[in-house]
Amino acid sequence: MSFPERQVAMLADIQEPGAREFRVGEGDWPFRGFVVRWDGQVHAFVNSCAHAGHPLNIDPDKFFSPEKALLLCTSHGAEFEPDTGICVGGPCMGARLTALKCRVEDEKVFVRAPTSMRDLG
Ligand code: FES
Repeated sequence: MSFPERQVAMLADIQEPGAREFRVGEGDWPFRGFVVRWDGQVHAFVNSCAHAGHPLNIDPDKFFSPEKALLLCTSHGAEFEPDTGICVGGPCMGARLTALKCRVEDEKVFVRAPTSMRDLG
């Protein structure tokens, strides 16, 4: 399924390595995603853990493990590679986060995303 492209962040507002969450839409089921800067690249994922579907973060924009080497789900400790989204530790080993198409133009980060988590199917 192809979703509209939206500007979700300014590149300068995301540390490297680092991440920034975004929401699209209103109501009970806004779409939740996050953008990752890692190793000179920008990636985007749905903010839904491959284990039980919880958002990975509790604190705003806090997605990285303390060592800043992996993305960490705060619910049950699953760890994901920041570029591929593959789980390399924890309860959903081998599963992966859902990646979103993203690109950077004029220092702006654009992501293809729906307006509701329900649109993911
Ligand atoms: S929901 Fe992420 S580890 Fe369980």
